Amino acid sequence: MNRITEPAVRSAIRALELRSGSHGLDAGCGIGNHTLWLAEAVSPGGHVTGVDISDECLLKAKEKAGKSDIPGQVSFQTGDIYDLPFEDDTFDWVWSSDVLYLWLMGNRGSEGPLPVVKELARVVKAGGTIAFLFWSSQKLLPGYPLLEARLNATEAANFVGPHGIPPELHHSRALGWFFGANLKEPKVRSFIAEVQAPFTDEVRNALTGTFKMFWEKARAEVADDVWSEYQRLCNPGSSDFILNLPDYHCFITYSLFYGVGIG
Ligand SMILES: C[S@@+](CC[C@H](N)C(=O)[O-])C[C@H]1O[C@@H](n2cnc3c(N)ncnc32)[C@H](O)[C@@H]1O
Repeated sequence: MNRITEPAVRSAIRALELRSGSHGLDAGCGIGNHTLWLAEAVSPGGHVTGVDISDECLLKAKEKAGKSDIPGQVSFQTGDIYDLPFEDDTFDWVWSSDVLYLWLMGNRGSEGPLPVVKELARVVKAGGTIAFLFWSSQKLLPGYPLLEARLNATEAANFVGPHGIPPELHHSRALGWFFGANLKEPKVRSFIAEVQAPFTDEVRNALTGTFKMFWEKARAEVADDVWSEYQRLCNPGSSDFILNLPDYHCFITYSLFYGVGIG
């Protein structure tokens, strides 16, 4: 998916106007794609530290960085975003993308996002930017708005913001978290990642995986005719597979919530 989302994520990074030469933190960096894009944005002289709880992801991030043009401008270390291994006021800015979904936070999800927001604010210098980026919506089935709406009206499709959590803890309400953590000047902007046929097998596989990610578990929640239509259009083995349409296009939105730390 990174191939598809890269332009939108890079636009979000540009919107932050991070200073060249600044030092930032990518909290929950995963395999380090954003870490590298952030480091490019603060070149020359800048540095980005990627932290993740998964050593497996960090291994891949280090490999990727080693093959990049800027291996010296990023570093990676194991860490828990609830208890970061850094002194107060260490970084000029912090970025965290697609991490603060409560379902990802295991047992601690019940505490809500505020402890993490405060922990990120702790390690940022006064006046530094704190930014959260979230995948916020998608339109994947052009020509089939009702089918897509029906598939989306399921708990399965809303796994990142499960039904039943208090609305203010949902990532779409992240603006409010800035008030809760006493951060200044909260803002939100959204960015679009678009795909248009024809596309590579890599993009095709990523989109096929996205259909599955949202809808594969929705079987029990939709009527038989909706499920048949889903199979007809979204199963790569079907002769009507939607990704074979010469006029296929889709888009995904990312929302960037950002504000200023008080040190
Ligand atoms: C959906 S991935 C996002 C990765 C990357 N930020 C991106 O947008 O491509 C979520 C990442 O958060 C990490 N993560 C989850 N809980 C964490 C925690 N408590 N501390 C640090 N990282 C965590 C996961 O290991 C995973 O790499």
